[in-house]
Amino acid sequence: MHAKVVIVGSLNMDLVTRAPRLPRAGETLAGHSFVTVPGGKGANQAVAAARLGASVAMIGCVGDDAYGEQLRAALQAEGIDCQAVASVAGESTGVALIVVDDSSQNAIVIVAGGNGQVTAQVVDGFDSLLSLAEVIICQLEVPMATVEHVLKRGHELGKTVILNPAPASGPLPAHWYGWIDYLIPNESEASALTGLPVDSVAGADAAATALMASGVRKVIVTLGEQGALFATHAHSQHFPAPKVKAVDTTAAGDTFVGGFAAALADGKSEAEAILFGQIAAALSVTRSGAQPSIPTVNEVQGYPS
Ligand code: RIB
Repeated sequence: MHAKVVIVGSLNMDLVTRAPRLPRAGETLAGHSFVTVPGGKGANQAVAAARLGASVAMIGCVGDDAYGEQLRAALQAEGIDCQAVASVAGESTGVALIVVDDSSQNAIVIVAGGNGQVTAQVVDGFDSLLSLAEVIICQLEVPMATVEHVLKRGHELGKTVILNPAPASGPLPAHWYGWIDYLIPNESEASALTGLPVDSVAGADAAATALMASGVRKVIVTLGEQGALFATHAHSQHFPAPKVKAVDTTAAGDTFVGGFAAALADGKSEAEAILFGQIAAALSVTRSGAQPSIPTVNEVQGYPS
């Protein structure tokens, strides 16, 4: 069966320390624990879409090292098509240095490694995957020129194109917006893209309105425990978040994006897909780590409504 959801993005090995709080500049802090966990926004979204019911293919690059092998094996164990996960000779695999504090907040530093080698030429080598997909997802942990290429190609092919603009440090190129069906930033990304303060539902609505004025068709701003704001040119709607006790928010946004895409590919309505992604993300924050925290479709369906 061909992949309905194709992700072009990053694979990272997450080096995760738990500590009482995030360290200040120049400070040495004793942590509680250390683990290595498969992560990367692209790979997390691929795992989420697969566990949440979609057939998935991943396009990306790892280094020719042990982390690269482990990350590919982690995706294969989920049944994800990894024919387009290339190993780049002489390159290191992407890593993310993550500190999670006792209040479940995190700080992350990423080093691109192989993710920086995901070029438009690499993607073109797997154009058949894009052609057969229904939903194509990108984030911003691979080169911007590659993201631009994928958005444009996905739009030309008439696919549902999702951009999770993470991490974002400023506005996106204006000509990208017309290629995007669903733009899914979190609060800080929505703020970086628009220059507007986004720390409330009203702020998210204002940012979504500004983004749609730039040409994007639909926007979902994820707001953590404040839920999500879905906006189209016709209307906007707030979806409150399920109430859970957060342990680690790493990959909650990725779980939402993967779950939303899987539900859309399964023919669900936008509202159903948002609710499904929200339950999946809520379950993910009750567990530690990126990919290990992502729930299965049965867990989401069993969540009390
Ligand atoms: O979104 C969470 C992810 O961001 C982590 O898994 C880390 O690899 C960084 O890419």
